[in-house]
Amino acid sequence: CDWNLDKREIDGEEMMNRYEELVALALEARESAYAPYSHFKVGAALLCKDGSVYTGCNVENASFSATNCAERTAFFKAVSEGKREFAAIAICGGKGGNIEGSFPPCGVCRQVMREFCEDDFEIHLLTKEVIETYTLSQLLPVSFQPDTIKKEDTLFFLTLCSIIFHL
Ligand code: THU
Repeated sequence: CDWNLDKREIDGEEMMNRYEELVALALEARESAYAPYSHFKVGAALLCKDGSVYTGCNVENASFSATNCAERTAFFKAVSEGKREFAAIAICGGKGGNIEGSFPPCGVCRQVMREFCEDDFEIHLLTKEVIETYTLSQLLPVSFQPDTIKKEDTLFFLTLCSIIFHL
């Protein structure tokens, strides 16, 4: 894949083509969905800031709770290969072979996105006619995130110092 977000400016038309291509990869990934229980087939294509793309599908399990969503499959594949910076994800899903409305990411997947992505991370949802685009901060406005824990750690450290040094 020749996408490289860091190295060149991208005009509007090129941007549109990029997302159409990303959506096409999500549609392709959806074909591998393992969904014998819900019959909802979901595909995702995750664009890294270095231009590489990782795809994923949902993988269901007879114990239901062990099911993995398409978005998390894509993220875990990418992170497990060393990727840490992400620009956008395209998601498509629906019952059986159909795409009707958009298929928004579940709360757990949004939380996984939050771990690695900035507020402006783009989430492209395929519907029958159009691609709906959101940012992560739109879909998860008030979130628990890595910074939340860092702040807590700093507070704990300062409290500890003030106790030890009688500040
Ligand atoms: N699913 C996803 O793949 N992504 C989501 O964000 C929501 C739900 C899958 C899980 C399950 O296999 C099926 O859709 C029905 O919930």
